[in-house]
Amino acid sequence: MILIGFMGAGKSSVGRALSEMLGWTFEDLDERIERREGRTAPEIFRESGESEFRRAEHEALRELFGELSGGAEKVVALGGGAFAQSHNVRLIEAANVSTVFLDADLEELWRRCREQRRTERPLLGSLESFRNLYEARRPHYMKALLRQETGGKTIEEIAAEVVQALGLDQDLDRDPSRIRGKRSEKQ
Ligand code: S3P
Repeated sequence: MILIGFMGAGKSSVGRALSEMLGWTFEDLDERIERREGRTAPEIFRESGESEFRRAEHEALRELFGELSGGAEKVVALGGGAFAQSHNVRLIEAANVSTVFLDADLEELWRRCREQRRTERPLLGSLESFRNLYEARRPHYMKALLRQETGGKTIEEIAAEVVQALGLDQDLDRDPSRIRGKRSEKQ
């Protein structure tokens, strides 16, 4: 399962909650990028620019899919820009994994990002540039299999609704051992 959405959508925190609920592993793609490049994402932006970050992001995604076997039980949180890049979308579609767009309105996303001031976000900018980027990316996010509203909900509520919407709760209720078989369709 791949979680997409704008900065502040809650991809990492909802991803962790989902992985706990399902007993799947969690991965934050930005962390893979940082490991591979030996620099933090903000450092890559600062020292080498956004295009270099996008190259590293695409390579990290390719590596990740290279490692995923058939129906690996994994929840992956992408950075906010990854799903707006068509070559990444092609890679994800070819891998046939479920994509979940964590949605919220602009004001809420902005508020969450402002509250998480300790998280350095190279593309946060002003409210106006934040809005422009959000409006440019939203049509890409809307191509996800599932759009999950997150406004006014707790992390656990959001994760539970995603599990239910993807029918993964039925797998858990009926017979946990069936998850492996179902997983290859719904992952
Ligand atoms: C980015 C969002 C960041 C990170 C990078 C670029 C973006 O991730 O990938 O700074 O283009 O929106 P988060 O969405 O987790 O903040």
